[in-house]
Amino acid sequence: MFLKNAWYVAAWGSEITNDLQQILVLGEKICVFRNEDGEVIALEDACPHRKLPLSKGRIKGNTVECGYHGLTFDCAGQCVWAPGAGRIPSDARVRPFPVHEKYGLVWIWMGNHAIADPEDIIDIPNFDDPLWGMNRGAAMELQCNYLLMCDNLLDPTHVAWVHQSSFATDATKDTPLRVKKTEDGVIVHRWMMDHEPAPFYKKVVEFEGNCDRLQHYEVRYPSHALIRAVFTPAGTGGPDGPLHDNTFVMDSYNFMTPTTERETRYYWFQLRNIRPDDAALSKMMSEDVQHAFEEDRAVLNEVQIGMDTKVSPNIDLNIDGGQLRFRRQLEAMIEEERVVDKRMQG
Ligand SMILES: [Fe+2]
Repeated sequence: MFLKNAWYVAAWGSEITNDLQQILVLGEKICVFRNEDGEVIALEDACPHRKLPLSKGRIKGNTVECGYHGLTFDCAGQCVWAPGAGRIPSDARVRPFPVHEKYGLVWIWMGNHAIADPEDIIDIPNFDDPLWGMNRGAAMELQCNYLLMCDNLLDPTHVAWVHQSSFATDATKDTPLRVKKTEDGVIVHRWMMDHEPAPFYKKVVEFEGNCDRLQHYEVRYPSHALIRAVFTPAGTGGPDGPLHDNTFVMDSYNFMTPTTERETRYYWFQLRNIRPDDAALSKMMSEDVQHAFEEDRAVLNEVQIGMDTKVSPNIDLNIDGGQLRFRRQLEAMIEEERVVDKRMQG
């Protein structure tokens, strides 16, 4: 079960071309392409006649022709030509999905069209800010349920064991976590004071010596994460710290799209408040982050198998508090949506 009334990332904008292709979102097959005006179109990927995926057909101008008997659909999913059928059957249509391009990503709405509002797409105020540099990488395929990655991104502690060559220091092992429920998600955060910067950050911070470090792990419903890292010279950080001119901030945006119950497409990029135009720095950061995310992928794929095949119960720890609150609230939202849908159908 997934939350349907939400914007999910369907693809990087650059992945969608004038060729038809099939993507999977929340287990549904969707045919995506750019029309003659360059707009992204998303249609249910099944001709209503014999259910051949439209993505196996052809683009004809601003329409899609089924590769089996030539039924042709416009960008709203309405059949506009049905060769040999006489008049067009009234139920010859496929479901269109609302899409919107923002932040270089294509967002898709899988629920009730009447309430799909692009204004509800996550707000990233520093996205186009020339003072912030960006690095990013290709989408990653995870062989696990999307909630395992949501768990991971509400779990600042895992870096101590999973990312030893990049994000870990001794302080990441057992500095206590703080959990905060917000209107649209959960935040797990902590300040770690006066220690050596972790290897990845040591390469990028613009001060010498020890640091105070904030790990801010935030996931918003259904599966969008902001991981903010703040590094400031030791003695200048903390919840009420004055912060310093040389404070380094990195906002890591992570969007998980369930493709099936057991697979997830993972989109990410980082924004940093230093050297915005330094292409070599962006490249280095992308490669290091990609390497770290591969470490997550390896663990989470195995966790999925472990949980699917367990022969004894698994346990929860104190450090799981944020994840459990997030899951409980999301479950309640999904259930509420299900009840409303049922009422509307009945
Ligand atoms: Fe990780």
